[in-house]
Amino acid sequence: MKRAKISIIGAGNVGATCAHWAAAKELGDIVLLDIPDKEGVAKGKALDLLCCGPIERFDSNVIGTSDYKDIAGSDIVVLTAGIPRKPGMSRDDLIETNVKIVKSVSEKIAEYAPDAVVIVVSNPLDAMVYTAWKATGFPTNRIVGQAGALDVARYRTFLAMEIGCSVEDISALLLGGHGDDMVPLPRMTSVHGIPVTDLLSEEKITACVERAKMGGGEIVKLQGTSAWFAPASGTIQMVEAMVQDKKRIIPSAAFCDKEFGVGGYFVGTPAVIGASGVEKVIEIALNEEESKLMAESVSHVKDLVETVQKMFPELA
Ligand code: NAI
Ligand code: 2OP
Repeated sequence: MKRAKISIIGAGNVGATCAHWAAAKELGDIVLLDIPDKEGVAKGKALDLLCCGPIERFDSNVIGTSDYKDIAGSDIVVLTAGIPRKPGMSRDDLIETNVKIVKSVSEKIAEYAPDAVVIVVSNPLDAMVYTAWKATGFPTNRIVGQAGALDVARYRTFLAMEIGCSVEDISALLLGGHGDDMVPLPRMTSVHGIPVTDLLSEEKITACVERAKMGGGEIVKLQGTSAWFAPASGTIQMVEAMVQDKKRIIPSAAFCDKEFGVGGYFVGTPAVIGASGVEKVIEIALNEEESKLMAESVSHVKDLVETVQKMFPELA
């Protein structure tokens, strides 16, 4: 049987770490692509990673390139190209630079890997998923954004630290955009089946929710640029679900139309992720407070998309 081909656009912190996790899990052959000026970096990181194979026991091939011909036949393309934020910046501040990059990269993906599922990682995430959708012209099931996998992992980490239990035993959900207005759902968070509300006070849960919301910013403040280990890990969780057709339910930025009354935007929602990308959006009933928070988050996503459409009317 043919190995999966996974192409990663952007050989920077997130892209190279995606390659690392994907090779370590032997999910397929990997192409790491960057701009011509950084071709040496892409090739160098790929060769360095390839030489881990004998130690880590993987046979994935890993190549670096700046030539889009090398992504031909990809099953999955992970789009990490773009600038990350610096201290004091919000994800939204990246829009002007990154929309141009994501548009041009998406056009190349459509040309060279027309059958791929695209996982968008570049920020501001929700607007970049929209950009990739419009610029590739791919069906909505083959365009998805990574944010929820990361945000929920942060939330689970902070809850486990507070409770003093294994992170594996925390099951949690969140919705909405990848921003400080994401919508965690403590009502749907459990610790090995025990509602988290039975184990932690409302105050402590709120503190974990707030830390997860600001988790990206906390790391930017500490290290001067944005995170990459957990973002890449969340991305590769999605790649693994696709390559192995696991049909995992992963919070992802998926196209929602009637769902949650969103009306045709990519927003964070529980989604079934399998071989064909987003196989199903799972709509859950929200209470009044959650619906209000979701509406606010969606309205922020719509504002970002409007900014994209103003910059590139052809993407409207
Ligand atoms: P980085 O600066 O380390 O790497 C970005 C790479 O993209 C660079 O190597 C750059 O040369 C490359 N690039 C720029 N234009 C390109 C083009 N036209 N074609 C191909 N490659 C191009 O940045 P990092 O930390 O890897 O972050 C990448 C993006 O991911 C940022 O926009 C960041 O905000 C976002 N991000 C998203 C997360 C999420 O959960 N969705 C989490 C962490 C970062
Ligand atoms: C994060 O949440 C920057 O979106 C990135 O770490």
